[in-house]
Amino acid sequence: MCGIVGYVGREEAVPVLLQGLYKLEYRGYDSAGVATVQPDGIRIIKTKGRIKNLDDKIQQEGGLQGTCGIGHTRWATHGAPSDVNAHPHQSQNGRIAVVHNGIIENFLDLRHALEADGYQMRSQTDTEVVSHLLEKNDTGDGVQTLLATVKQLRGSYALAILSADRPQELLCTRRDNPLIIGVGQGENMIASDIPAIIAKTKQYIVLDDNEVARVTADEVQVFDAQGQPVQKEIQTVNWDISSAEKGGYDHFMIKEIMEQPKAVRDTVSPRIENGLPRLDDAQLTDEMFHELRNIHIVACGSALHAGLVGREVIERFARVPVSASVASEFRYRNPIIGKEDLCIVISQSGETADTLAAMREAKKKGARTIAIVNVVSSSAAREADSVLYTWAGPEIAVATTKAYSAQLAALYLIAIKAGLARGTLTEEQARNYCQQILALPDQITEALRTRPQIEHLASLYHNRQSVFFIGRGVDYAATQEASLKLKEISYIHSEAYAAGELKHGTISLIEEGTLVVAMANDPDLYEKTLSNVKSVKARGASVIMVTDQDVEADPEICDFVVKVPTCDPALSASLSIVPMQLFSYYMGLFRGCDIDKPRNLAKSVTVE
Ligand code: G6P
Repeated sequence: MCGIVGYVGREEAVPVLLQGLYKLEYRGYDSAGVATVQPDGIRIIKTKGRIKNLDDKIQQEGGLQGTCGIGHTRWATHGAPSDVNAHPHQSQNGRIAVVHNGIIENFLDLRHALEADGYQMRSQTDTEVVSHLLEKNDTGDGVQTLLATVKQLRGSYALAILSADRPQELLCTRRDNPLIIGVGQGENMIASDIPAIIAKTKQYIVLDDNEVARVTADEVQVFDAQGQPVQKEIQTVNWDISSAEKGGYDHFMIKEIMEQPKAVRDTVSPRIENGLPRLDDAQLTDEMFHELRNIHIVACGSALHAGLVGREVIERFARVPVSASVASEFRYRNPIIGKEDLCIVISQSGETADTLAAMREAKKKGARTIAIVNVVSSSAAREADSVLYTWAGPEIAVATTKAYSAQLAALYLIAIKAGLARGTLTEEQARNYCQQILALPDQITEALRTRPQIEHLASLYHNRQSVFFIGRGVDYAATQEASLKLKEISYIHSEAYAAGELKHGTISLIEEGTLVVAMANDPDLYEKTLSNVKSVKARGASVIMVTDQDVEADPEICDFVVKVPTCDPALSASLSIVPMQLFSYYMGLFRGCDIDKPRNLAKSVTVE
């Protein structure tokens, strides 16, 4: 959600900025812009639409020179997507340009005060007020001016600032939005995320909340909120640029679906030692699990769906009550949570605003917090008491696939560890589950072989208006992710229902040809689900069964069977979700959708 790039060095800035912006496309955006400092002042080119449009506009306008500049992809919050609302925004005298990710909550008050002082707004954005405030507060020292300005701001932001008066200097700061500084040789960068800098450098600094940085070609100086210099650790990216590129696939989504065996293997295998889970990196000790009263899982979107599976599995293995809550609800519910509780937050990006706020709420109430996070050094990773990284590698497609699978794997490890510590799993059972988890990557590879069948099914069903997913237990949790995936990628209305609940209302929507996807992978619940399947089939539904059972398509039950490998039912979501991810992908493809960047969605939602 909004992407920021800044460059200062000896090369022309614009090609570097555009390359960086392309790498941030995954965050979701509706307009883009760049600004550089030229001898006669700051020049900005910005436009609604894709970065390609911006690139074309820059060419048409004869290029944009300069070795210091900022760029931005905007995801509209205040003011519609338009050329004028696109960033960068310029101060009244044109000497300052700003790009921003986040929301300035008191922007209306600030705007009225600025207007009373004679400042004229050109856009409807909250960001524009920041550029005018910086002009108004300018003391001649960029860092001091920025520190004074952010004191007036309420809300969340990552800001990068260009000044015509200091043409070889970038300023930046953040609060509740990610920002890193890429440290190069004779050149430095600012960015929302690593893919934007990695072509230039693998060294980076993570800016913390309320810190301000002055970045020139040869120096990075970081200051705290009081203006005192801060020594920052320089970190090194441990993956290659090719991991963030398509590598021969048509879309990142399909590439990432195919990468799932590796994502799960990398997450699990370093953490199973002598056949049992070892979660030292997450500092999860037996004592902690012993004393546990409740576990609260909080997350958003697919991460929450991973949490729903986690709830089932942890309760089964460790016999401790687990709730899984939507983070945006949890944070405002005054949740009942205390010192004897564990709060597990799950997030691919580690930057989701609601998830972070929910975690802070749990911490405030004394609960221990653990973050299952994919992005190293992200806010959730740094703020939680401990972190269990999913090693899925960079995920670029907006709709998550491999990070979800890695999250499931991490949750299984926690469930086994907790079960062992609480004496609800014997060592033998724990070893058996660990063995099954280690076998999952190969089984996921096998599940990926359904790809041609799934492509065929999507060719048959991509014109349906509505799709229902049904299942029980872990299958029900997995259908919720399957349904979300389909909505996100193909824009087809879909709902996931507990199979037993269908008869309490929703079955009235089933008519001739309605597509129902039934997941049935738990032998104990299989017969029950089958009765529900028969009841929709009898009302004319077309039915696809996703199951590990040995069944054939049968006119009374289903039109197609998608066979997935067999594993313990507790772990089955890892396998049954795979054909459903492929289904969403091909349904979207047949419908001509923008697979990697679905409309209105952002990869990382850093606002409420
Ligand atoms: C956005 C994305 C979803 C994602 C959710 C949570 O809504 O579009 O795909 O599941 O955020 O993101 P997180 O980074 O916290 O896992």
